[in-house]
Amino acid sequence: MSGAFLVLKHSPPIKVLFVCLGNICRSPSAQGVFETMVADAGLADSIAVDSSGTGNWHVGQPPDSRATTAAGWRGYALDHLRARQVHSGDFEQFHYIVAMDKQNLSELKTLCPENFSGELTLLLDYADTALEEVPDPYYGEDDGFEQMLDLIERASTKLLEDIQRRHAMPGAAC
Ligand code: 4NP
Repeated sequence: MSGAFLVLKHSPPIKVLFVCLGNICRSPSAQGVFETMVADAGLADSIAVDSSGTGNWHVGQPPDSRATTAAGWRGYALDHLRARQVHSGDFEQFHYIVAMDKQNLSELKTLCPENFSGELTLLLDYADTALEEVPDPYYGEDDGFEQMLDLIERASTKLLEDIQRRHAMPGAAC
């Protein structure tokens, strides 16, 4: 979250990519939450949102039904999403590439070209929480999806504030 990357460097839309392992639980949930926050802020024309996975096992599949159900209870739609694998070209398209855990981040760093001028971070870098990573709920109980959404909501609120402020968008806090 360095300060050098700023207002004039990127014209709208600012593009945000969330990345996890399978692109069926955490990153599509983050996409759904963030898309809703962006729309509610009236910034749908200014910020574009996508998600992808470092793995390819689920390419073309919709999000895990447990993720879709948990998100739906909170008013977030995931039905329109399909999994895809991240690739090096994403670094030319996206300004913010946001990983769910350190393994994802490490794999993204191996794909990241030297001239990438955006931000490559962990989602929870933006949250005021002791956790550094969003735990993977895929092999766990359903309450893992609730914890995942709690973390994603906290961090996404801060990420949106950060983008609004840095790109001088409406609603930015002074
Ligand atoms: P995600 O969760 O990375 O949050 O989408 C996972 C989904 C699938 C697998 C692992 C994690 N898998 O091994 O198939």
